[in-house]
Amino acid sequence: MNPSVGVHGIPEFDDSDYAMWSELLERRTGITVPRERKSFLQTKIWSRMSELGLSQFSDYWDLVTRQGIDSRLEWTQLVDRLTVHETSFFRHKPSFDLVRETLNSTFAQAPDILHYRMWSVSCATGEEAWSLAMLADHCAAAYPHKKLYYGVIGTDVSRPAIALAQQGIYDARHMESVPAAMSHYLQPAGKGLVSVSDVLRKRAAFGYFNLLDLEAAAKVRYDLIYCHNVLIYFSRETRLKILDNLVRYLKKDGILILGPTDISAWQHPCMERLPARRTLSYQLKNDV
Ligand SMILES: C[S@@+](CC[C@H](N)C(=O)[O-])C[C@H]1O[C@@H](n2cnc3c(N)ncnc32)[C@H](O)[C@@H]1O
Repeated sequence: MNPSVGVHGIPEFDDSDYAMWSELLERRTGITVPRERKSFLQTKIWSRMSELGLSQFSDYWDLVTRQGIDSRLEWTQLVDRLTVHETSFFRHKPSFDLVRETLNSTFAQAPDILHYRMWSVSCATGEEAWSLAMLADHCAAAYPHKKLYYGVIGTDVSRPAIALAQQGIYDARHMESVPAAMSHYLQPAGKGLVSVSDVLRKRAAFGYFNLLDLEAAAKVRYDLIYCHNVLIYFSRETRLKILDNLVRYLKKDGILILGPTDISAWQHPCMERLPARRTLSYQLKNDV
């Protein structure tokens, strides 16, 4: 690596540096950083190095690639810098309308007892997972005589983002996108903040998960998998692999909802595209 200092006092980050760092990021997280975004990669790595008092990219490289817990922890800090956590409650209305319709018809047809599992696969700071929990609780309230055990799992590759998701405390301004009928699930917590209600906390759990690790056997299967605005960061080949793997995590008749522009022309022999308008959604018709 080139130790000479470039503009703004940031060490030179040449093409071989870009190649090494972008390859490491893609190998470990699937995220691709196109060459045009080389300066983004350089600036983000540099900002973290500055906090640690490191002045050479090679020293930081050694830190994040060596064996040991400190190296693994540092890597998660860097991943947090390099990932985009933009999200909001009920972010894509047509997709959440589909979730609502699905929950309403499932709960209506359910026997006296039903277990319903949802997975928000890259939930960032949690708003998406909490929105699923709000909808499920809201729809379940129409069937007080039934035992409807629904749960939401929210996962992400960014540990700091997951910690915030778990906390469930947000700026009150984020409530703007929450439908009025569900605003009671976010309660005032002082200082312009709101906190997710206890009712929802019993229904949601959060954890670290890297989508590249989907190859493992699916121990749990979900009724609904919500995967929005993450595939766009991966190559097409990686997207296809992830989608094929996600299918294995669905129960029969389970639903997979992607962001409308997350992938084009995807087909799977066991999945049927749903006609819901302005969504990219599929249902598992034949068990895998
Ligand atoms: C733009 S946010 C999307 C948040 C939410 N799904 C939404 O649509 O509002 C993308 C998220 O994908 C996560 N991500 C990136 N690579 C990942 C990977 N390999 N495994 C799991 N999550 C990943 C990022 O950490 C980030 O929180």
